[in-house]
Amino acid sequence: MSNSPSATAVHDVVVVGSCMTDLVSFAPRLPKPGETIHGHKFFIGFGGKGANQCIQAARLGAKAAMVCKVGNDTFGENYIENFKSNGISTEYVAQTSEASTGVASITVNDDGQNEIVIVAGANLLLNSEDLEQASNAIRCAKVVVCQLEIQTAISLEALKIAHDAGVKTIFNPAPATADLDPDFYKKTDVFCCNETEAEILTGVEVSNVEDAGKAGSILLEKGCSAVIITMGVKGSLLMSLENQTPCHIPTRKVKAVDTTGAGDSFVGALAFYMAHYPCMELEEMSRRACDIATVSIQSQGTQTSYPSRAQLPQELF
Ligand code: RIB
Repeated sequence: MSNSPSATAVHDVVVVGSCMTDLVSFAPRLPKPGETIHGHKFFIGFGGKGANQCIQAARLGAKAAMVCKVGNDTFGENYIENFKSNGISTEYVAQTSEASTGVASITVNDDGQNEIVIVAGANLLLNSEDLEQASNAIRCAKVVVCQLEIQTAISLEALKIAHDAGVKTIFNPAPATADLDPDFYKKTDVFCCNETEAEILTGVEVSNVEDAGKAGSILLEKGCSAVIITMGVKGSLLMSLENQTPCHIPTRKVKAVDTTGAGDSFVGALAFYMAHYPCMELEEMSRRACDIATVSIQSQGTQTSYPSRAQLPQELF
């Protein structure tokens, strides 16, 4: 990491979060506990919720920077090159010899559904000094995005720095824990989670749009300005302090090949729209982000499936 953060570089989107090397196996179905099954394909890809979101925002045209930590190893070196080749600033990407680059073991079944285990490694060593190095970039960004694959306290610190400087914040509470610090809600403009995460955070079982509305109300009451619950084939649900009537945004039905990272594609696209079209209604941003995430589930891989601006209909821009 550079010791002299640039005072002039203003980024549209700054993501403070995780990088993982994804070890992906495709199998007809997900194994039961204690069971070994044959898979039919394996590959190594770039993942991690934070980095995925940053890559999607950059592919749509956002000037993006990543604040993260990788190991002093081949996976870490490769990840830094990956950011560079996607046009993302690596000024705040730190390396450590104290832990390995984070990894995610992912199994994808024939319906495109997945199971993921992460070993966060170096991600958990991102610390307050690293945030201090990046604090100018965070305070000057148009949008700052955080998740929970780094230390919770560091995510919250990043959201506080951004929010207190008047920067729009998106928080994706993934992986979710029931005992989330209440300050997360207060420092978040758009709280974006999936059905499982909404359920963990509110105790409301979310299996349809009506349930999502109930969970959304509870999340809004906790203090964020807007809540989006993504619901896979059912689209998404938006609620805000301005309009607390749940707004259901359906999505197109497509054949899912691999849903891994679809939520990250949504969040990254949302960050792009919030940065580039600040006057657009959140409902319209969500509709477009959903369209982009729907493209991502139609091919294999996480970042490999994320579309760039040139590959999308121009009416999305
Ligand atoms: O959201 C998908 C991501 O979760 C994967 O890329 C994996 O790395 C885990 O972080």
